[in-house]
Amino acid sequence: MDQPANRLLFLVLLSFLNLPIYAAKVTLNPDQWGDPAGKECISCHKKSSAGLTAQWENSKHAEAGVNCLDCHKADVDDADAIKHEGVIIATIVSPLDCSRCHTTEYEQQKGSVHSEAVDLIKERLPALAGHVGGNAIVAAGCDQCHGSSVRVLGDGTLDPTTWPNSGIGRINPDGSKGSCSSCHGRHKFSKAQAREPSACVRCHSGPDSPDKAVYEASKHGMLFAAQRDEMALTNDSWVAGKDYTAAPTCVSCHMGAAGKLKSTHDVGMRNMWSLNSPISEKQSLVVFESGEKIELPESIPAPRRGSELTKADGSMGKVKAVATPARRRQAMSMVCLECHSKPFTKSFMRQFDDVVMLYNEKFGRPAEKIMQTLYSEGLLTPTPFDEAIEYTYWELWHDEGARARHGASMGSPNHTWWEGMYLVGRNFYAHFLPQVLAVAGKERGDAIIQSHVRSLDQHDWLNHPRRANPILGYGKGRPADE
Ligand code: HEC
Ligand code: HEC
Ligand code: HEC
Ligand code: HEC
Ligand code: HEC
Ligand code: HEC
Ligand code: HEC
Ligand code: HEC
Repeated sequence: MDQPANRLLFLVLLSFLNLPIYAAKVTLNPDQWGDPAGKECISCHKKSSAGLTAQWENSKHAEAGVNCLDCHKADVDDADAIKHEGVIIATIVSPLDCSRCHTTEYEQQKGSVHSEAVDLIKERLPALAGHVGGNAIVAAGCDQCHGSSVRVLGDGTLDPTTWPNSGIGRINPDGSKGSCSSCHGRHKFSKAQAREPSACVRCHSGPDSPDKAVYEASKHGMLFAAQRDEMALTNDSWVAGKDYTAAPTCVSCHMGAAGKLKSTHDVGMRNMWSLNSPISEKQSLVVFESGEKIELPESIPAPRRGSELTKADGSMGKVKAVATPARRRQAMSMVCLECHSKPFTKSFMRQFDDVVMLYNEKFGRPAEKIMQTLYSEGLLTPTPFDEAIEYTYWELWHDEGARARHGASMGSPNHTWWEGMYLVGRNFYAHFLPQVLAVAGKERGDAIIQSHVRSLDQHDWLNHPRRANPILGYGKGRPADE
């Protein structure tokens, strides 16, 4: 691309990423806090919950004069309002409550993939937690990461099956979504703490999103561990390439400021692919006038600004802005470019995209088509997770398939291959295909495998079983038998 066009695209991109969606409203106004009635809370709570109060005393909030009541205050009409020592308070402090002062972070977080994490699991919950686990698992498992729907009991107390909870998309009694203390430990609420990779790993660990392990195994993780005193984590300003250069953390790439790119509380903004799905698709991010957002697969044409489109809740909304996959990739690359060259960054992304496409074409699509065939021919019951092959298929895309893709996106060769694509291959050839034969019978099974697997170039090696076999040492030095 020639230079002027490049610069124009850059400016358009910046204006999209930084301005129209997130018109920053500066609302930190000292008149808004320091409620006199809030001073009473401290003397009591120094005794009844000393640890919590000490954390607050060492926080920026205390320093600025923001007291307990400034956050915990409630209206009598609020569903979770309680009368406590003569004052109306609520235990829950929702994103909407924080937005009394922090409008920008609230607006960014609203509608993000994080804030929609409860809707995401609704469909899968009955099959996974219901069939394989049980209600207790929903409360202490899924909901702790994704978020509960907090219920208020008749006396104003919180239903113990739904709280304590600081899941990332928690549905609050005031209708707002999320919990700002998912990442910001209370009652310190320090940004230095939230910049640490450890702020993310409570949820981003495990077989399908092993980002902690991926990061630690990457060169970036290696350098972060060795040079963390050069990371300027406690700085007020924290711009990659300016305030620190030693290594990026999760936050640098997914949220942080880099050069002219501003920081954001929408972690999905810079991601082009849907990595955690049976088949990865490139996605556009559509932002509505109302602040809601949806992810739109590339196969559906991106809408224009100002046009009408169906929102996640089924109602129509006016499109405010669209970030196409290319724009999202460019935003992520702007972070890399603070420390790396353009060819380096592009080539890395090429290696990553190639892994995603290899997974899609060689395993993801054929396995999905085979499963669809087995269901449509009545060879499997429609009930999820009651047959062995359903677990094999699930693990193929959800566990090792996702691991391979995460490994390649964030630079861990171990997760890309040994804990990723190697296991995908093993499960596909040694478990999935034999189970297809078991479920469909030899004749029908062979035909299904022939049309979805053996006929593809990537699996052609299966059609040549007598090639030299280095595992046994058999055939060493012999020409390939073909
Ligand atoms: C007279 C002493 C006293 C004062 C004043 C007081 N609290 Fe408390 N508060 C307590 C005690 C004791 C508990 C713990 C109750 C328990 O453990 O059952 C508590 C509990 C709470 C809870 C937790 C409720 C729950 O459901 O877990 C919150 C939130 C709270 N106080 C906030 C405040 C705020 C905000 C103020 C100031 C407006 C305040 N308190 C003033 C003594 C006090
Ligand atoms: C910056 C806002 C903020 C301030 C200031 C604040 N809190 Fe909280 N507090 C929270 C949040 C957020 C939670 C988590 C509740 C939830 O799940 O939404 C919480 C929870 C609590 C709880 C119940 C949870 C637990 O761990 O027992 C108590 C008690 C409490 N706060 C007391 C206080 C007291 C006392 C002060 C003043 C010394 C105070 N808070 C100041 C935001 C705040
Ligand atoms: C340890 C925290 C954690 C627990 C527990 C958890 N999830 Fe998730 N879940 C995540 C994270 C993180 C993602 C996002 C993965 C990504 O995009 O990399 C996710 C993604 C998902 C997705 C979207 C795509 C995918 O990967 O499948 C669904 C659906 C889902 N979870 C359902 C559930 C259900 C149902 C449960 C409980 C039976 C559950 N999750 C338990 C953290 C968790
Ligand atoms: C996914 C984790 C995460 C969640 C959830 C989260 N934050 Fe943050 N927050 C961070 C990180 C990381 C930083 C530091 C960012 C930086 O320095 O670039 C931060 C910084 C901040 C800052 C300081 C901004 C500044 O420029 O000084 C405020 C205020 C804040 N968050 C408020 C909130 C509020 C309000 C919510 C809920 C609506 C929230 N955060 C939810 C991770 C999170
Ligand atoms: C009544 C106003 C008010 C409310 C409500 C409020 N904050 Fe703050 N917050 C402030 C002020 C003032 C500062 C200090 C700003 C500064 O130092 O520049 C601050 C600073 C912060 C910081 C940056 C701390 C650092 O290390 O620099 C974070 C993170 C934060 N708030 C998160 C939250 C979260 C999360 C909530 C809701 C649970 C919340 N705040 C509720 C006023 C508020
Ligand atoms: C309390 C749990 C929790 C914490 C803490 C958390 N996340 Fe997440 N995160 C999730 C869940 C659940 C999802 C899947 C949500 C969805 O797809 O709707 C997710 C999704 C994501 C995604 C995928 C977005 C996409 O495009 O699909 C990214 C990137 C991400 N988180 C980054 C982070 C970072 C960086 C941190 C730490 C600063 C963090 N998360 C902290 C639970 C969490
Ligand atoms: C060097 C930059 C970088 C660092 C550091 C980094 N990531 Fe990523 N991450 C990426 C890129 C690039 C992708 C792929 C984006 C895309 O879809 O195009 C990605 C993908 C993801 C996804 C999958 C999103 C999806 O589509 O499902 C999650 C979740 C995630 N990262 C979380 C984390 C967490 C948590 C950490 C820290 C433990 C972290 N990342 C560290 C760059 C980074
Ligand atoms: C804050 C600076 C910083 C940022 C931002 C950053 N990196 Fe790095 N990265 C480094 C450093 C330093 C190294 C180590 C260089 C070395 O020793 O090879 C490194 C190493 C790498 C390596 C391994 C190189 C090798 O040959 O072993 C890859 C790949 C990489 N980065 C990709 C990325 C991508 C992609 C992004 C953006 C999504 C990114 N980096 C963002 C600082 C950064």
